[in-house]
Amino acid sequence: MTSEVHATDVAGAQRAWPAALGVGPSGGLELDGVDLGRLARERGTPLWAISRSTLEHNFDELLGAFRGRYPRCEIAFSMKAHNTLAVVQLLHQRGAKLDCSAEYEFDIVRSLGVPPSDVVLNGCGKSQRALAAAAQLGAREVNIDSCVEAQRLDALAREAGNVVDCTVRVQLDYERLLEIDPSYVHAASAADKFGSDVASGEAMKVVRTVVDAPNLAFRGLHHHVVFPGYLSDYSTESALAHHAESAAELCRFAARVRASLGVEVERLNLGGGIRASGSIHVAPPGRPEEATWHALPSAPAFADAVFSAIESHFEGDELPLVQFESGGHMVWDAVVLLAEVSEVKEAVRRGGPAKRFVYIDASAMMFVIRSMLKMAHPVLVVDRPFDTPAAPNVELVGQTCLTDTIAEGIELPELAAGDLVCLLHQGAYCDTTSTQVNSFPRPEVALLAEGAARVVKRRERLEDVHSRDIPLEG
Ligand SMILES: Cc1ncc(COP(=O)(O)O)c(C=O)c1O
Repeated sequence: MTSEVHATDVAGAQRAWPAALGVGPSGGLELDGVDLGRLARERGTPLWAISRSTLEHNFDELLGAFRGRYPRCEIAFSMKAHNTLAVVQLLHQRGAKLDCSAEYEFDIVRSLGVPPSDVVLNGCGKSQRALAAAAQLGAREVNIDSCVEAQRLDALAREAGNVVDCTVRVQLDYERLLEIDPSYVHAASAADKFGSDVASGEAMKVVRTVVDAPNLAFRGLHHHVVFPGYLSDYSTESALAHHAESAAELCRFAARVRASLGVEVERLNLGGGIRASGSIHVAPPGRPEEATWHALPSAPAFADAVFSAIESHFEGDELPLVQFESGGHMVWDAVVLLAEVSEVKEAVRRGGPAKRFVYIDASAMMFVIRSMLKMAHPVLVVDRPFDTPAAPNVELVGQTCLTDTIAEGIELPELAAGDLVCLLHQGAYCDTTSTQVNSFPRPEVALLAEGAARVVKRRERLEDVHSRDIPLEG
């Protein structure tokens, strides 16, 4: 049934549709049984609609595949990817731990009643306030970034009379990864503000500082893998190799820690960067000709690659607890953005090819991460049969006075003011990176489940955008 609705790149977009998206009996686009055209007209646009079933599926599928392969593992939801509180609550209730970056995310999950023992506290250059909160309340683990941070946390924990569980964040050497993927070189060569370097010996010094600190308990090591599709020539094989090789390199460092310091490495935290199941659309802004669909590895294939690498390094020893901090994977296809067309303009310059600008009431400034992460957002026209002829060279743009290109070089059918469009893959790093440039209020967020929509974040009002302002009197 899905083929009845127009998609800009039908083959690609349908590959990327979550199972919850389809065409309802009335011919309208539906997500979790909610008619998206009706929702947009009733609640107004722009509007982010979250599919609860997709969110739950993404978490359950990953955890099921991982635990099926290696029972001693856990997944934290990395809330920097999406911080609508209802989403954080849903995933926590389903069994996710929470990865919080420093103090504000820690504050907010505590206000939701999440026990500190479910929270991994991450971040570089952590404030004294963040460390003091962890020292007083504890955490599943504090991921230690440097020797100085270890000493600061130890002093605060001593004052609080507590011992705090810690892992140490390291930068790997990537020696073998570079053989597999030379485009990883910039990640491997530049000094990184996160964690400490293994090759120079700094990481071992940080581990030693934690081990020697009376009020810190050394639990293990951490390394975050950036989703390789953002950085490199992507293939499913190279993606699996990135994660498996990072795990293997972390295991080799764990063996050196055991041998040098005589301590156990009970936990290996492999960070995030997981994208599994289906396919993802990557499009560097300004270079539409380079837009590509990456087929992602299946969750079981991902699990097998990573856990095989770990098991081969722990032969005969007790296997560690393996932790993940997954953000984008949980949410990326669970959210769509509904927007209304405000104007359509045909433009030509100096005899070049004609271009059609379609202006909508949403803006790329509502997801500025698009330019950093090359994330593409396939466009569907809501309420338009699939066989409607489409014209090429359309640029979907927002109304702000910054470069505000949402999609470019795409095909769309004739559109007019008042038509509705639906942007896919709006879950990861969109709402959390949204801005209010030109005083644009940010969209409403609705959670959809079993045919019903519930507002979980109200639409921003102009008064909200300027709520911190103190105008001059007179
Ligand atoms: C330490 C850490 N963990 C987890 C993540 C989440 O990554 P992803 O959204 O790719 O899963 C990030 C993202 O930047 C990170 O820095």
